[in-house]
Amino acid sequence: MTEEIRSVVVLGAGTMGSQIAAVSALAGYTTSLVDIQQKQLDRAREQLRQRLDRDVEKGRRDRGAVDEAWSRLALTTDRDRVAASADLVIEAAVEDLSVKRSIFADLDRVCPPHTLLVTNSSNIVSSRVADATGRPGKVCNLHFFNPALVMACVEIVPHEGTDPETVEAASAFVESLGKTPVKLKREVPGFLANRLLNALRREALDLYEGGVADFEDIDLAAKTALGHPMGPFELMDLVGIDVVHLIRLAEYEQTGDPAALPARSIKEKYEAGDFGRKTGRGWYEYPHG
Ligand code: CAA
Repeated sequence: MTEEIRSVVVLGAGTMGSQIAAVSALAGYTTSLVDIQQKQLDRAREQLRQRLDRDVEKGRRDRGAVDEAWSRLALTTDRDRVAASADLVIEAAVEDLSVKRSIFADLDRVCPPHTLLVTNSSNIVSSRVADATGRPGKVCNLHFFNPALVMACVEIVPHEGTDPETVEAASAFVESLGKTPVKLKREVPGFLANRLLNALRREALDLYEGGVADFEDIDLAAKTALGHPMGPFELMDLVGIDVVHLIRLAEYEQTGDPAALPARSIKEKYEAGDFGRKTGRGWYEYPHG
């Protein structure tokens, strides 16, 4: 735990938010996971329960540590109550600028003046939400990777007006989670890892849509020639094709570059509701959820 931060609130109980909250509770922080829908919180609780129990069974985590983490983790729809005593709020809600701006304005109103307000967004840079608050110096991006319980990297991205103390506190927080802070000097949409990943994904989709190879074989090449743990198509299914689609649209909205628009096959899968693992079908089939 760090000195400045004791109480953490995570907004949005989707794939990212729920695992970020679990990581925070496991590291000793009093943590609240907030969603507007109770149904989403119930689903998050069940998925985390299964995931953490499996980690205990496999000897990756200690039963006592997991039980303690559960005792520190509250799942609630009452955002303003828990935000009122938070030292750090991590927003992991939908990738929609107007929604995020209104969340940040609300948080600024209900949180104590010292509370850091960060967003897990990888595409909406924090300067676009910081001015919805009266504390832009305490706002930055803190970007986790999927699955957040496993991946070590957390990107810390200040905007021009972020206080250096905010970056230091965020960095200490990330280290206290047992993760690796990766700092950017300035804002750029997509940050580091996603830009690398986008370049690979764009090429993979070009090869597939150009009829050069089946997507399974492109994945095989990435795994067996480059040593990637997953191929680009498997990874799209893990991250969510809806998320990939949204990220492309957000980049187009920020750059106006038509090359940023989602590839044809992504648009088709998105419109068919085939989002990947979360819907049971994406590039691959996931019959058991
Ligand atoms: N949540 C939590 N833990 C998970 C998980 C998940 N969804 N999937 C796998 N794991 C963990 C589990 O501990 C799992 O063990 P069990 O199956 O026994 O429970 C363990 O990882 C090993 O899993 P697998 O044997 O299924 O597969 P693996 O050895 O390939 O490891 C992986 C899985 C860690 C996800 C690995 O494939 C990997 O590192 N893949 C690349 C992930 C990646 O690139 N992430 C970045 C995505 S981009 C992003 O997140 C940015 C964004 O802005 C959207």
